[in-house]
Amino acid sequence: MMKSEDNYFLSLSSQQKENMLETIKKDVRRSVSEARYEHSIGTMQKAKELAELYGEDPLEAMLVGLVHDIAKEMTKEQYFLYCVQNKIEMDEFDKVQSVTLHGKIGADIAKKKYHFTKEMQDAIYYHTTGRANMTKLDKIIFLADKIEDTRENTEELEQVKNLAKRDMDEAILWDIDHFTIPKMIKQRKMIHPDSIFARNDIIRRKTK
Ligand SMILES: [Fe+2]
Ligand SMILES: [Fe+2]
Repeated sequence: MMKSEDNYFLSLSSQQKENMLETIKKDVRRSVSEARYEHSIGTMQKAKELAELYGEDPLEAMLVGLVHDIAKEMTKEQYFLYCVQNKIEMDEFDKVQSVTLHGKIGADIAKKKYHFTKEMQDAIYYHTTGRANMTKLDKIIFLADKIEDTRENTEELEQVKNLAKRDMDEAILWDIDHFTIPKMIKQRKMIHPDSIFARNDIIRRKTK
């Protein structure tokens, strides 16, 4: 749904969005390591491919893919400080597994610095966990992050890639069941409720 905060971004021409992409590339390069920069570019490219396949705006998807991990390499102290200074609410989960804050903070940067639309901010906010009722853009970014070309290819990843070409919901479900949740269990970490909500929501819609 269109919100008034979306007006600035929606008023931009394609050329202006292209220019924005170049500016943001430099910001991302300054904010993260070389390897994560390559991952960000990979996510941007994969987001473009998925957007073209599923009829979403490729430039918007590229911008979101490029920015999604901009806050990933902040320290725990920097996360907390950013949240306090910018009035981002931290829940019990964030306090223990602070790395999940990189989505919330990335979304806040996307809003304040780049004036992304609410939908674009949300795709960054939920990119690691998913959520119930994911938008098309949420799904594109969630998957592009997982299947971009710099990730080491495994049989399991191949499965997500193949599913992503046919049905993004099936690909996300597979990823949550075979990567996101098992990874948390193996590392004895808490499973984010939004991953469970995303999973339940897909199953509910698929079994109707
Ligand atoms: Fe991330
Ligand atoms: Fe990522």
